[in-house]
Amino acid sequence: MRRIIYQSLAAPDLDRVEMFRLVYLIRAANETRGLCGFMLRIDERIFQVLEGEALKLTAAFESIRRDPRHRQIEMIDDRPTERAAFAAWRMRFFDGRNIPRMFAQITEAAGGDVPHSVQNAILDFLGPDLIRPVTEAVATPALPLLTEAAPPLSPRPC
Ligand SMILES: Cc1cc2nc3c(=O)[nH]c(=O)nc-3n(C[C@H](O)[C@H](O)[C@H](O)COP(=O)(O)O)c2cc1C
Repeated sequence: MRRIIYQSLAAPDLDRVEMFRLVYLIRAANETRGLCGFMLRIDERIFQVLEGEALKLTAAFESIRRDPRHRQIEMIDDRPTERAAFAAWRMRFFDGRNIPRMFAQITEAAGGDVPHSVQNAILDFLGPDLIRPVTEAVATPALPLLTEAAPPLSPRPC
């Protein structure tokens, strides 16, 4: 298994409607390829975590890299992994409107064990301005993402 994390910038015509259309198609493609993960879009900035069998993921990422619907693709992290953390999601899409809820759902999907590389990459992507309201909103100092959360889900095939 392999997990990649990248960021990119949406093309101007990848508006809200086209984005939802794209996510719908991605879910079908990922079902076929056995890939999973999630995507976050804030304004024109896109962040994606994609997991799956190494050869299938490499092939998909070749297509993704060439896709004119986004540009300035930058790899944030690329590593082998024993199992998919987000096997529950063919491609979950977040629009960044409720970041605390997004953190909670990511934590739950990963069975309470969000890989550190994913945690760090999301926090970097969001930056201090988007994280500050979250840290101020929670009573405990840690973000939901960083705390012990739901008990592990039984592993599901990616
Ligand atoms: C931001 C973004 C994310 C994408 N994510 C995926 C993905 O997770 N899986 C996938 O199969 N295609 C994804 N695509 C679509 C691919 O670029 C491509 O259109 C699709 O895989 C079909 O390519 P093919 O005709 O070469 O098989 C994404 C495209 C964009 C713009």
